[in-house]
Amino acid sequence: MKRIAFLLAAVAIVAGIVVFIPRASGHAEEDASPIYGVKIPAGYRDWQLIAVKQLHFAGKGEQLRAQVGNDLALKAFKEGTLPFPDGAIIAAIHWTREPSEDNNKVLDIPFPGTQSFVIGSRVNVQFMVKDSKKYQATGGWGFADFKDGKPGDEALHKTCFPCHLPAKDRDYVFTRYAP
Ligand code: HEC
Repeated sequence: MKRIAFLLAAVAIVAGIVVFIPRASGHAEEDASPIYGVKIPAGYRDWQLIAVKQLHFAGKGEQLRAQVGNDLALKAFKEGTLPFPDGAIIAAIHWTREPSEDNNKVLDIPFPGTQSFVIGSRVNVQFMVKDSKKYQATGGWGFADFKDGKPGDEALHKTCFPCHLPAKDRDYVFTRYAP
């Protein structure tokens, strides 16, 4: 009996290793955006606020959006430095927009008919990472879009830079620092 238990344990360990290794190595690529190889930057949710936006997608509902940046990006925004320095990262967090009945009940007393909106759920998060050498072909920016922690496909990532071309005068960045 002991021997069988030992064999089973050995098989489990070997099988575990065999299954685990390809997963572990495949994971790193799965987590990076295609074309640019940008991964989700650690701690980005704690970065400082640059600006807030609302998007009305015709027929597709409303989105609330916040742009946050790391220290290098914030400094450049505040000082109006263009182009952005290497190492600057801008994150754009997008959520669905939902009405808040709780807030409305309270606000309706002094301000009848007031409608309050709050964040519903996370839609996606996008990043622009400045590296003027590595991403020379795309204005010095590496792009990435993640949904539930998973990067979008190559076709999606081909759309990023061309659509940011109209903001060429501001180093391909649309967002302006909110006062
Ligand atoms: C259809 C055009 C279009 C496409 C495609 C597009 N963007 Fe943008 N992007 C914009 C506009 C306009 C803004 C500013 C308005 C907003 O955020 O709602 C913006 C804002 C951003 C911002 C905040 C910084 C800034 O430039 O204002 C990031 C980060 C960003 N986009 C990343 C991406 C990534 C990554 C992709 C590709 C997966 C992408 N974008 C594709 C038009 C586009």
